[in-house]
Amino acid sequence: MKKLICTLSATVLFTACESRTYEEISDNTPIIQVVTYNKDVKAIIDGNCVSCHSPGPQALTNYTQVKSNINSIIDRISRANGDPLKMPQGGSLSPAQINIINKWKADGLLEN
Ligand code: HEC
Repeated sequence: MKKLICTLSATVLFTACESRTYEEISDNTPIIQVVTYNKDVKAIIDGNCVSCHSPGPQALTNYTQVKSNINSIIDRISRANGDPLKMPQGGSLSPAQINIINKWKADGLLEN
């Protein structure tokens, strides 16, 4: 009889813990997925950079160009407002867009 009570309360405790953890995950954790050039990065660069960065030696129109300039791109988009070297010139990417570019590098600069 003692054994049965223990098993029951352990089950109740486990269920309570598990449901609280699930709520935390679904409330606060964004969907984590791998960032790729074609899926996420290209649209940001095309919409904010290519108007000036194409064509020529500073072009950012394809995967190879963007990938090989990634350190300098992250440096420029991360600068403070008002810094003359900040990109895009005269504006700023949103914090969410900057996060995507940073995560692209962290995820290994994948094309697809
Ligand atoms: C309005 C035009 C304009 C836009 C839009 C623009 N840039 Fe630039 N960018 C320039 C000019 C002009 C330079 C050269 C002067 C300098 O280095 O600041 C430059 C330089 C750079 C450099 C340094 C290149 C090198 O060879 O040293 C990087 C990296 C860069 N831009 C990234 C970006 C990114 C990323 C975006 C979009 C988020 C962007 N730029 C948007 C005009 C622009």
